[in-house]
Amino acid sequence: MIEAKHISKSFVKYEKEKGLIGMIKGFVNAKKVIKKAVDNVSFTIQEGEVIGYIGANGAGKSTTIKMLTGILTPTSGEILVDGIIPYKDRVRNARNIGVVFGQRTQLWWDLPLVESFSILKEIYQVSNEDYKARMEMFEDVLQLSEFIKSPVRTLSLGQRMRADIAASLLHNPKVLYLDEPTIGLDVNAKLKMRQAIKTMNKTFKTTVILTTHDLDDIEELCNRILIIDNGKIIYDGALSDIKTKYGSDTKVSFVLKEAWTDFVDLAHLMEVDPKDIIVKVDEDKLEIGFDKRILSVAHVAQVIMKNYEVTDLKIMETDIESIVSRIYNEGKVNVSND
Ligand SMILES: Nc1ncnc2c1ncn2[C@@H]1O[C@H](COP(=O)(O)OP(=O)(O)OP(=O)(O)O)[C@@H](O)[C@H]1O
Ligand SMILES: [Mg+2]
Repeated sequence: MIEAKHISKSFVKYEKEKGLIGMIKGFVNAKKVIKKAVDNVSFTIQEGEVIGYIGANGAGKSTTIKMLTGILTPTSGEILVDGIIPYKDRVRNARNIGVVFGQRTQLWWDLPLVESFSILKEIYQVSNEDYKARMEMFEDVLQLSEFIKSPVRTLSLGQRMRADIAASLLHNPKVLYLDEPTIGLDVNAKLKMRQAIKTMNKTFKTTVILTTHDLDDIEELCNRILIIDNGKIIYDGALSDIKTKYGSDTKVSFVLKEAWTDFVDLAHLMEVDPKDIIVKVDEDKLEIGFDKRILSVAHVAQVIMKNYEVTDLKIMETDIESIVSRIYNEGKVNVSND
């Protein structure tokens, strides 16, 4: 459905020197710098896939989405969406896609919401029958009727986002681009949003590309993720593979009845190699870090409790947030080659 081949996008920026002199100089000769926002990115997306496109602020996500939707032309490389080059044939491409930018709306600000829908119905030539059926479905998942007669400018953020997603789906597009669709939404609104995306994907095999900083969106919706860092794709694969690689670190922390003084060989007691466990002691607190594939929580707990009097115990697994934060910080992923 979507093919991106070696796409790059550079922006020209003019850097001025700091201070007043810099400002004056800046009028004459600001230094020209080229920023590669997207740098040689390639991927193929099949019909019906739901892709999570993640990366830190400024990584290049929105720029990629803008090229895929045809708003921006790549500096180099090629894109095909359902056989169409989006930035060359914007009109034909528009019939195939739905777009939601969480930061701004595509609806007519001063019109009652329902009128925006009527206009979109005409623009996309949606039949009366389809219109009725889709509005009913939107009502089911997004509950628009409570505010459908209000002007868009009076809607709350969550209501406006629900309206925006309905609007982007009115013509039943083959591809749906969502750039931070859950930004600023409360827990319930997020659930509704995710439900709507799921329903569309299941019912119509809509291909979805989603950027988000909310990793629950990703866990709930995406069967594949792309991670972009500094304009380059550093991971393309299943979320579960990253979890297997990074997610096996577990920590068990114990609070002991008395401060730990007799430094016994815990690795020996647990029958593992000393390098397989990380032991931290701070008076009455004892923390043991290990890989769950080598040791079980039950075994660690059992050994400690047999040797010490334990008053409290806590198990901490690496969660997806900290895995992803580690990947952003390291700027690389090493999943496949071990
Ligand atoms: N029109 C533009 N002119 C100049 N630079 C731009 C332009 N659009 C984006 N950039 C730069 O390109 C880089 C990537 O921006 P982009 O908006 O794609 O990031 P993003 O991954 O969507 O980040 P965020 O998570 O903050 O939305 C940034 O360094 C940004 O400053
Ligand atoms: Mg963005």
